[in-house]
Amino acid sequence: MAKRTIVTMPGDGIGKAVLDETLRVLEASGFEADYVEGDIGWEFWKKEGNPLPERTIKLLEKHKIGLFGAITSKPKDEAFDELSDELKDKSLVYSSPIVGLRQHFNLEICARPCKTYKGNPLNFIRRGKGDEVEEPLVDVVIFRQNTEGLYGGVEWSNPSEKVYDAFMTHPKFKLNFGKTPKEEVSISTRIFTKERTYNILKEAFEHAKKYGYKSVTLCEKPNVIRETSGMMYKMALEMQKNDYPNIELWNTNIDAQMMWLTKNPEDYGVIVAGNMFGDIVSDGFAGLIGGLGFACSAQWSKEGIAVFEPTHGSAPKYADYETSIVNPIAMIESACMMLDFIDEKSIAKKIRIAIAAVIEEGKVRTYDMKKMRGKADVVNNGAASTKEMADAIIAKL
Ligand code: NAI
Ligand code: MG
Repeated sequence: MAKRTIVTMPGDGIGKAVLDETLRVLEASGFEADYVEGDIGWEFWKKEGNPLPERTIKLLEKHKIGLFGAITSKPKDEAFDELSDELKDKSLVYSSPIVGLRQHFNLEICARPCKTYKGNPLNFIRRGKGDEVEEPLVDVVIFRQNTEGLYGGVEWSNPSEKVYDAFMTHPKFKLNFGKTPKEEVSISTRIFTKERTYNILKEAFEHAKKYGYKSVTLCEKPNVIRETSGMMYKMALEMQKNDYPNIELWNTNIDAQMMWLTKNPEDYGVIVAGNMFGDIVSDGFAGLIGGLGFACSAQWSKEGIAVFEPTHGSAPKYADYETSIVNPIAMIESACMMLDFIDEKSIAKKIRIAIAAVIEEGKVRTYDMKKMRGKADVVNNGAASTKEMADAIIAKL
């Protein structure tokens, strides 16, 4: 069989460091592939006025599978200031290239697993009944709708007359906002469609079925956000009844869920939510299993284009350290999700076993696992560097 080609997109800041180490781990695992690098991120915004050049889109179109590090996004005005001078009069507006990728390829399904590693000093602990300390084992996968909702990008400040007038036809808009001058109104919409809502629910239930999770929890707010969350809840009820009678459907509100998170996280299995609530609840669960150094993700389209990335950002303050200090596990785990996706499950399993062994042994720990403040000198004080963590995992392989 011909070797597969993976599009690597290191992006900005620590993205490159974690991706480089991940590629070493992949190589050591026996996974065979060719890699082509796709340009993405701040550098290309500054130089070309486009953080997601067309050539990168073409690469992904061709090879289908991407490994992405992280990018830096900055507010509108700052982005404009950093644009190279000859591009400043071209009315360019910065928008996040990773959001751009999701929308361009309709990477509508996002999965974010959060699973406790035994021996991780960052595991959440709580006090139990007799005051004893308990360490709940979390094994949750969050399915987040990745392209619509509040992050769909349909928004205005000082909307046009036409838009404003349309909103004024809604009695609640008229009542609550109708007296505010148009220039002082900013609107971000939350649009859900039936098709994509169905797709994310279906993936969530299918995952629960395939991997034996006993419940799917819809984490929205249907009692208040009646049209969008409400539609999702109704569709989930129907799907459960018709297609998955053996899987329980739980319904929690996002705010209450964030509170229950620390009370009984071990009770949850698959969680499904719209874009923003999925983003929030997945960060919440990630906090229970070690935080951003451990939070991995996959996103894919129905057409089979898929991008795998750690949940964390580019952590610019650590980007210029001579020795990279950040934890590469989130990126390596994301690569394992890629291996699962392309049916290299046994290699993914092997890497996860190696990671588990390093964590349980406890000899090699990055600064976050050592509970140190992230500074350039953490490596001199006993924390493993990004490379040393990857080396330890490779040694276990
Ligand atoms: P961040 O995730 O880059 O960093 C937050 C903090 O988390 C860091 O200061 C560090 O203490 C810790 N951290 C992150 N990754 C870590 C790792 N692998 N190991 C150990 N500790 C780690 O988020 P922040 O500071 O809010 O954003 C920085 C930049 O990243 C911004 O420009 C933001 O827009 C961008 N960003 C990009 C994302 C992406 O590429 N998908 C996601 C989130 C933020
Ligand atoms: Mg997030």
